[in-house]
Amino acid sequence: MPEPSPCWSPAALPENWQTAGFGLYVHWPFCAAKCPYCDFNSHVSAKIDQVRWRQAYLAEINRIGSKCGDRTLSSLYFGGGTPSLMDVSHVEAILDAVSSTWTMASDLEVTLEANPTSTEARRFAGYRNAGVNRVSIGVQALVDEDLRALGRLHSAEDALAAVSVARDTFERVSFDLIYGRQHQALKDWKVELRQALALEPDHLSLYQLTIESGTAFGDRLARGVLPGLPSEDMSADFFIETQELCDTAGLPPYEISNHAKPNAESRHNMIYWRSGDYAGIGPGAHGRLTHQGTRYATATPLSPAAWLDQVESGKSGESEFNSLTDRETDAEALMMGLRLTEGIDLDRLRRKTDYSLNINMLIDSGLLMLGGGRLHATKTGRRVLDSVIAELLKEQA
Ligand SMILES: C[S@@+](CC[C@H](N)C(=O)[O-])C[C@H]1O[C@@H](n2cnc3c(N)ncnc32)[C@H](O)[C@@H]1O
Ligand code: SF4
Repeated sequence: MPEPSPCWSPAALPENWQTAGFGLYVHWPFCAAKCPYCDFNSHVSAKIDQVRWRQAYLAEINRIGSKCGDRTLSSLYFGGGTPSLMDVSHVEAILDAVSSTWTMASDLEVTLEANPTSTEARRFAGYRNAGVNRVSIGVQALVDEDLRALGRLHSAEDALAAVSVARDTFERVSFDLIYGRQHQALKDWKVELRQALALEPDHLSLYQLTIESGTAFGDRLARGVLPGLPSEDMSADFFIETQELCDTAGLPPYEISNHAKPNAESRHNMIYWRSGDYAGIGPGAHGRLTHQGTRYATATPLSPAAWLDQVESGKSGESEFNSLTDRETDAEALMMGLRLTEGIDLDRLRRKTDYSLNINMLIDSGLLMLGGGRLHATKTGRRVLDSVIAELLKEQA
């Protein structure tokens, strides 16, 4: 590995947002029902005062805007929870506030996560008129029985209808599927994935079902009543076949779980994976902001009521605001960057020499590759990425 050049120092590097973009993440924490596999910060609430929530988001945009100064915003992302339960006027007000706070990139991406029920699809045109230009739809499965097992409130037919309305409404449409589900045979997944690819999406997120502790599925697994999950070997086969089918369909992976046609990658997620800057507002939202060479990590309270109270009482919505050490910044950049097919630009690491021995060892093992100043995981490395990253970040003796 090359030594850092003599003029190299974190202060000499452009701020992260100048090289990898700046985005705003808005977390809407409510859902119509809690899915048994989900450990996102999502809550079911009988009554939501949309006006109070709108005021709180606007106050936070104002506060963060005055703190980070004018920057060019490349992405605004409404995530959740289920942001397609937000009033259209609410999304409109947030977009107005954002446009008077930051310079908007000419190709600003504005994404909203949506659940595919007919009620939500009816709001799509309103969101488009408010300025949303991309939706990410949580289809999850195209098999009714499996949708029920996943606790979803929609059918496969609802999902196909929502994708079709979205394509007629938005410039860009992505949808999510979960595979490696209970009792799912690889051959059936291949049929389902082919059906999804036949819809010719420009972006697909394909996640292997993860059983998280603290979820209903986690509890069932602990009690031994969640049968039919794939073995480790079967999971590897699911992953390989998924990559191959998507490759053949012209939707190669640009990240471990994300596939896109050229230039259709999620700009918002690319900001995370390329270690750009992003502000996060709403309960449980995280942010990363760089100022004069130091990177800061922000977090907010998980509880919707606690976050709302905090903001309404005139305080910052953040519960944490910590500077990261150079090693922490690098560790994060490696963890995020190696998820990408394009890999990570080694020039952006602050302490490159710290990792050189481990990198060389992982290259010799065929798990990493170096080329054009970038470090990538090989195909084999991508299948065991968590262990590759753990090995890479191990302190050298
Ligand atoms: C923020 S969540 C959901 C957005 C939206 N509320 C929905 O359910 O469609 C984003 C995506 O993460 C995926 N996901 C959530 N929990 C998962 C799990 N335990 N295993 C695999 N994928 C999961 C789902 O595909 C989901 O659409
Ligand atoms: S998967 Fe989506 S709809 Fe289900 S609980 Fe999680 S955030 Fe809510």
